[in-house]
Amino acid sequence: MTTRSNEQTTLPPNEPLAEAGLVPVITIDSADDAGSLAAALTQGGISYAEITFRTPAAAQAIERMRSEAPRMTVGAGTVLTVEQADRAVRSGAQYVVSPAFDARVVDWCEEHAVPIIPGVATPTEVNAARHRGLRTLKLFPAEQLGGVALLQALRGPFPEIQFVPTGGITRRNLGNYARQPNVVACGGSWIASKEAISARKFDDIVAAAKDACTIVSQARRQRSRAR
Ligand code: 3PG
Repeated sequence: MTTRSNEQTTLPPNEPLAEAGLVPVITIDSADDAGSLAAALTQGGISYAEITFRTPAAAQAIERMRSEAPRMTVGAGTVLTVEQADRAVRSGAQYVVSPAFDARVVDWCEEHAVPIIPGVATPTEVNAARHRGLRTLKLFPAEQLGGVALLQALRGPFPEIQFVPTGGITRRNLGNYARQPNVVACGGSWIASKEAISARKFDDIVAAAKDACTIVSQARRQRSRAR
């Protein structure tokens, strides 16, 4: 494995990510809903979104969200191939997230100076990503893999790695994740579910976003007091 010299290009937009503390994972059926969704998230206090390549509308939804909500940071999620990464970036995605660690996707992102947050599930994958200069990784599927206990165990050997745990996070366990010193942000679909978006329940999304922001703020206050 090659160790890359220019680590900067593979770093995700860490500052806005840390500021947001939350990454709504979006599965959207109609790009027409992208603008209203962005407005609901923003009203709820979240200006960060990950639109997954799980529906044919994904690329267009990214494009619409970027043009209708220019202050949002919009990433592409569930990016499994170089072709999807290319399409996402051409549609305006500002960063790329994958549920897995795929060297081809990481290479492509690095070559195109696109921030990438690959998914990892084991210490071996964390170390492979670390060797590539990546310091922010998606832990997926977090809850199923061991959740907070796994994050705490990974902190010993990988103190410099910041995680975005995703998978199985809801308002019930969010605080516990957000309190972990090696968690930069928590991801999940509960804030803006596919069903809520399709039913255009944007008030529910505003409420879920506000609730999540409150939980993360409280958790972060507790985290800084514990330091
Ligand atoms: C993802 O792609 O990150 C997950 O599907 C989100 O997991 P969740 O639906 O359990 O929040």
